[in-house]
Amino acid sequence: MNMKKAAVLLILMLTAATFAWAGPPQEKDSQLERGHKVYDKWCFPCHGTGVGKPGTDALKARGQNPAVLEERTDLTAALINTVVRHGVGFMPVFRKTEISDAELDAIDAYLMRNNKK
Ligand code: HEC
Repeated sequence: MNMKKAAVLLILMLTAATFAWAGPPQEKDSQLERGHKVYDKWCFPCHGTGVGKPGTDALKARGQNPAVLEERTDLTAALINTVVRHGVGFMPVFRKTEISDAELDAIDAYLMRNNKK
């Protein structure tokens, strides 16, 4: 076998070994982690803790307690998805090119992680 064929074979073997090494994905945890990441990028600037967070301030002014979304236990996917895709008040619409349906599902899972089952 020539060098080139040997090199290709080696790369194939390494690739296969890498996939075997990764093992089965932790479905649920990775979904929550993904949701947390997407949330931090797009939602935290308005819905986080601390001062100058317009989403948290607006919900606080409305009497929502807790006002921080990450602390809620009553959010539903239906509410989150409607608000994210259609906007509400000062909150903008997020398009699928910004937040995909799969990413929105992950946000739902993340924000509903503490809901009573
Ligand atoms: C530019 C600031 C801003 C961003 C970014 C933002 N929001 Fe909001 N959000 C608001 C404001 C302001 C309200 C309150 C609107 C009102 O009721 O007048 C709100 C309300 C909501 C509500 C309704 C809560 C309730 O109890 O009615 C949900 C759910 C929500 N946002 C989810 C999200 C998610 C998820 C993201 C990220 C994808 C996000 N928001 C990004 C500003 C923002």
